[in-house]
Amino acid sequence: MMQKRKLRDLEVSAIGVGCMGFSHGYGKVPETEYSINAMRKAFEVGCNFFDTAEVYGDVVFYPGHNEELVGKALSSVRKDVVLATKLHLRPDEVAARSSVYDAVKSHLVASMKRLGTDYVDLYYLHRINEEVSFEEVAAAMGRLIDKGLIRGWGLSQVDVETLAKAHAITPVSAVQNIYSMLERGCEAEVIPYCVEHNIGFVPFSPIASGFLSGKVTVDTKFEEVDDVRKFVPQLKKENITANQPILDVLADFSKLKNATNAQISLAWMLHKYPNVVPIPGSKNLERILENLGAADVTLTDNEFAQLEAALNACTVHGHRGFVETEQHTFGNNWKKKE
Ligand SMILES: NC(=O)c1ccc[n+]([C@@H]2O[C@H](COP(=O)([O-])OP(=O)(O)OC[C@H]3O[C@@H](n4cnc5c(N)ncnc54)[C@H](OP(=O)(O)O)[C@@H]3O)[C@@H](O)[C@H]2O)c1
Repeated sequence: MMQKRKLRDLEVSAIGVGCMGFSHGYGKVPETEYSINAMRKAFEVGCNFFDTAEVYGDVVFYPGHNEELVGKALSSVRKDVVLATKLHLRPDEVAARSSVYDAVKSHLVASMKRLGTDYVDLYYLHRINEEVSFEEVAAAMGRLIDKGLIRGWGLSQVDVETLAKAHAITPVSAVQNIYSMLERGCEAEVIPYCVEHNIGFVPFSPIASGFLSGKVTVDTKFEEVDDVRKFVPQLKKENITANQPILDVLADFSKLKNATNAQISLAWMLHKYPNVVPIPGSKNLERILENLGAADVTLTDNEFAQLEAALNACTVHGHRGFVETEQHTFGNNWKKKE
């Protein structure tokens, strides 16, 4: 069984599965049965942490498509898994309801129905919309926790000031921000804040949208429909070429540890922080199992220090973050790096 970690009160496997790609974001999706089987196999090898969102599926299918798949795959083992999902809140729908709480609850009820459950373990605000008070969302999440409808809540793509204010209203279980060897911005403030305040940190795109696996090359053709990689600046040909030194570092350590590049990139962040639980995404069962296997790749302190020093000596070219951000102020933090 895989080692466990804590996201505040939630006990999860050290690595989770990002389920988005089964419905959204990385081009053509597998057959439904394949996706369901892949999630069940991940559970069988010890993964209990599955990440989805109400919006996944909206481009090719419909919002909720991914939650339905996760529900079909895992409702038979519901009590043994930790399900994380996310909501977006628009100002007009908040205005149409009597309160932020009512608006949040109506999203939650719809997600629970699709997931085939009567509670969600970890409910994230997917993006902060500056026209909707996040303080009121935080208070609403507290009420939902009190009612037993969610076990914990979180924020995604959040900066440290917003996080601290939200945490003061209702303690946050986990932050889900972009974090990988190519996107280390959260090391400055957000992750240290989370470590200090017993908040879990769940990196999304931990393999840098596949780049760190070494399998994406300048010849890789991204798909026409619903493939986020077409818009990820780090995956422009010039950046793929310029970031090769990072792949060389990974390749050295992969050889040393008899592991894959993707596994080393995950083992690195697990070693670095005790509260980090990455959710790599893949629509391919073998790769899902490979990524979960990174929990067994243990770096010694010395190996980690060498890896860290080698990474710090590399310049990262291009970034990904801003394409993931809708709110103005936090979005500008990423844009400055262009
Ligand atoms: N909170 C947010 O705003 C947010 C944003 C984005 C994502 N997420 C969540 O985070 C999860 C992970 O993020 P992500 O999918 O964007 O990025 P990721 O995990 O860094 O990368 C996914 C890409 O890498 C490839 N890949 C994965 N493992 C591989 C391996 N071992 N070898 C070779 N290629 C591999 C996948 O291809 P194949 O599918 O072909 O294997 C896919 O193209 C998502 O599933 C989603 O749940 C959250």
